[in-house]
Amino acid sequence: MSDTILVTGGAGFIGSNFILQRMEADSCAIVNLDKLTYAGNLRNLESVASHPRYEFVQGDIGDSRLIRQLFEKYRPTAVVHFAAESHVDRSIRGPADFIATNIDGTFALLEETRAYWGSLDERQKARFRLLHVSTDEVYGSLGPGDPPFAENTQYAPNSPYAASKAASDHLVRAYHHTYGLPALTTNCSNNYGRFQFPEKLIPLMILNAKEGKPLPVYGDGKNVRDWLYVEDHCTAIATVLQKGRPGETYNIGGWNEKPNIEIVQMICDLVDEMAPGRASSRRELITFVKDRPGHDRRYAMDARKIERELGWRPKETFESGIRKTVHWYLEHEDWVRDVTSGSYRQWIATHYSV
Ligand code: NAD
Ligand code: DAU
Repeated sequence: MSDTILVTGGAGFIGSNFILQRMEADSCAIVNLDKLTYAGNLRNLESVASHPRYEFVQGDIGDSRLIRQLFEKYRPTAVVHFAAESHVDRSIRGPADFIATNIDGTFALLEETRAYWGSLDERQKARFRLLHVSTDEVYGSLGPGDPPFAENTQYAPNSPYAASKAASDHLVRAYHHTYGLPALTTNCSNNYGRFQFPEKLIPLMILNAKEGKPLPVYGDGKNVRDWLYVEDHCTAIATVLQKGRPGETYNIGGWNEKPNIEIVQMICDLVDEMAPGRASSRRELITFVKDRPGHDRRYAMDARKIERELGWRPKETFESGIRKTVHWYLEHEDWVRDVTSGSYRQWIATHYSV
């Protein structure tokens, strides 16, 4: 029996990179269930849309009946759960969608997964996996000299987004502990790369720099994130799916801590290099703006467990990854035009108005 993976949220940034990578690297079939919120974009998956091993279904992870039908029809050997509301600033302005999808939606998905898994024979049961994709933000914020987050760091989520992801992690843990569901959780640091919606720091700065618009840096710009190239995250997920021990959590990170201001300056320099023609450096566009409420100061991941136990380490350096990413956004004007239409413009206008 060959593998069939039910991917949730596969039209988003990381999910679409994961699907494209797996379709090329594996012989698995993929069913992509995505609601197509503002963050979902089927253009990302145009190259596999009519592939015989790929199927797209538009729908909500909270729709139990639909999930049940998908399990019955496709008999997946694994679920990789990306679907979520993912933007911290949006969670601050309106947490309700985050509770609905990240908590209630994950709960509905877990319930249907448990029922389906319970109906399998022993061999299929032993083979089945649910991989829940989560974030480093569940661990809260670090001081400058604190050690990075490890798998046993106490949860201390600070934003509604982080709290909703923490809740979903706890549910996944409980479904393993109580019902024996063979679930795994990955907690990853900040991703960057192609297809990221330009509400997030890196693509927002690339596009604004290109267009000569102000580059809004929150607070003093010294908040630190640990950046990982999205393709490395996708190989980490595939590795955990293949070799991880059910019931375990694995931290994934880039060993690449950088303050935001440094990221923005690097982007300015790369855009200056790749899209010359401006009289002055893009760095002049940097504008310090009001801080994000409750803004976590520093994230850093201790990713030694996944390396020690499963042999995964990031391959891309930040210097090469950010160069590829800037190049991709500058080269893909059609994609950018598509995603920066109506509702995006409204978000930018509301969020960055003083
Ligand atoms: P994204 O916002 O780009 O994509 C989310 C996708 O989920 C979209 O395609 C959207 O349409 C879909 N979706 C939303 N609600 C849904 C619902 N109710 N039912 C079905 N589909 C729904 O997010 P991303 O950045 O690709 O993140 C994917 C996952 O990885 C999330 O769970 C996020 O918490 C986690 N994560 C992200 C990062 C990061 O840096 N982006 C880092 C660590 C973990
Ligand atoms: O750490 C993993 C998390 O990374 C994921 O779980 C989230 O889904 C993902 O959105 C991301 O969260 P962040 O809040 O860290 O990412 P964001 O790109 O929104 O912001 C990165 C940093 O840049 C953060 O310190 C806030 C700052 N920032 C962001 C924006 C959008 C700015 O200074 N200006 C901005 O306009």
